[in-house]
Amino acid sequence: MRDPKTFRSTAWFQGDQYEHLSRRAWLRSEGFSDAAFDGRPVIGICNSWSELTNCNAHLRQVAEAVKRGVWAAGGVPLEFPTISLGEMFMKPTTMLFRNLMSMDVEESITANPIDGVVLLCGCDKTTPAQLMGAASADIPAIMVTGGPMLSGRWNGEPLGSGTDGRKLFEALRAGRIGEEQWAEVEGCISRSAGHCTVMGTASTMASMAESLGMMLSGGAAIPAVDARRYQLAEASGRRIVEMVLEDLTPSRILTREAFENAIRTDMAIGGSTNAVVHLLAIAGRAGVDLCLDDFDRISRETPYITNVKPSGQFLMEDFFYAGGLPCVTKELLPLLHGDALTVSGRTVADEVQEVQIRNRDLIKTLDQPLNPEGGTAILYGNLAPNGAVIKQTAASPHLLRHRGKALVFDRYETLRARIDDDLDVDENTVMVLQNAGPLGGPGFPEWGHLPIPTKLLKAGVNDIVRVSDARMSGTSFGTDVLHVSPEAAVGGPLAAVRTGDEIELDVPGRRIDLRVDEREIEGRLADRKPPAAHYRRGYGRLFLDQVTQAHLGCDFRFLGRNAGTSAAGAPS
Ligand code: FES
Repeated sequence: MRDPKTFRSTAWFQGDQYEHLSRRAWLRSEGFSDAAFDGRPVIGICNSWSELTNCNAHLRQVAEAVKRGVWAAGGVPLEFPTISLGEMFMKPTTMLFRNLMSMDVEESITANPIDGVVLLCGCDKTTPAQLMGAASADIPAIMVTGGPMLSGRWNGEPLGSGTDGRKLFEALRAGRIGEEQWAEVEGCISRSAGHCTVMGTASTMASMAESLGMMLSGGAAIPAVDARRYQLAEASGRRIVEMVLEDLTPSRILTREAFENAIRTDMAIGGSTNAVVHLLAIAGRAGVDLCLDDFDRISRETPYITNVKPSGQFLMEDFFYAGGLPCVTKELLPLLHGDALTVSGRTVADEVQEVQIRNRDLIKTLDQPLNPEGGTAILYGNLAPNGAVIKQTAASPHLLRHRGKALVFDRYETLRARIDDDLDVDENTVMVLQNAGPLGGPGFPEWGHLPIPTKLLKAGVNDIVRVSDARMSGTSFGTDVLHVSPEAAVGGPLAAVRTGDEIELDVPGRRIDLRVDEREIEGRLADRKPPAAHYRRGYGRLFLDQVTQAHLGCDFRFLGRNAGTSAAGAPS
């Protein structure tokens, strides 16, 4: 157990100089008595609450539960805000700001008298941003996510955010449902506080936090409005005080074994393709050497066993009732590093000894999986020399090996403007979108689930092969090749594709190739005019100057663990 004299907050509050008096006095202005600063651990509650981030709008109540736990365990809780990233509202894309939020989290922790921190997040990017910031700050940290919304229901059928909304929007475009029914869907799809109800990016990243060992076991799937989420928050408040005394820092938890566990879990739950980018970035902050090949190797060895949309049938609320992530972990234990440490101070294996799987339709066995391989596959080829990703479990099986003629759009706006036209397309067409990557988007937007041309929807074609350097929402589905690296805007081969070229996709063989002579490709790339930079000043300029490509995680070059330590520290 640590001596309280070694706490970071001691340097701020304990002493007889003027600054010590003034710091204590200023905190007393908030109504704290001097007894609150007598050497107890100071626990920051890093809150991404915002009414502009609807998925996180209940986090102030969650923070109150955390505070109860901190006080009960003998700590002093101090809640603070950071920038929040609301997927529904922010333009051009929240991904442009993930790194900014991670810097805000890191600097808010390191610049203040905080001995340990509870991270409150929920919506897609808020979770990786907080994990990145906490890994860089490297003081004891525990995560509490906001949990998924209650399941939607319409017309007697479950309604999953994003996934079913998109399907019904395509039905609307094809004329299979009308405006009145569409309006009813709007009222049914989001029933409560919390994040999206399928295994989209928010649910995936909550599962990643749990499987990395950064959240108490069982926390990922508890519905946002269930009393047990507040009990989890209170327990996390108690636990962070103990973690400070044990000096249990993220660097002791975020090991290579922890990342391998997280990747394996991601594959078993059919997680969002965005997890690839975020785990690479978090690993970079933790100083763990991770690459795309780790994902593909683990994917080939790990069956997909979690029957949740968009790859499966059920919703996150059902997943919770089936036992949640601890049950997946228990099933996966023979393939996991069971001795990896978690925030509880216990190992991954210890945490799941007693859990019971309550719905075998939802959580399958390794012997009888939904798919023998994991949800995400990594592709290479002359179209993606540094890699691309595809969610193979949410793709159409008959398109996993496919060759077809390209229909190319060099800008997303053009694609949107022409999607209802009488395009020259059929079910074999390969739609291509260029200039939608980290620099091209800008910010790596979720445009990769390219809309199916209306002409095809009306003919009953609901999926075709689509290729882009964009990401896609974790709630999406379809045969979408994403994250093509290098992206078109920096001269990747995707920039050379022209309408009418043949593209060959071979997911079992892990290939994506442009069937055009290599010298012709080189010539086209040599002749291309690079697109103008989107930003000349401000944060956008910093992003364009410093962001890495998709296969490296899209963090800023100067933020990796090996780039050095933060400027901020204990005050003099
Ligand atoms: Fe926030 Fe889906 S919009 S999690």
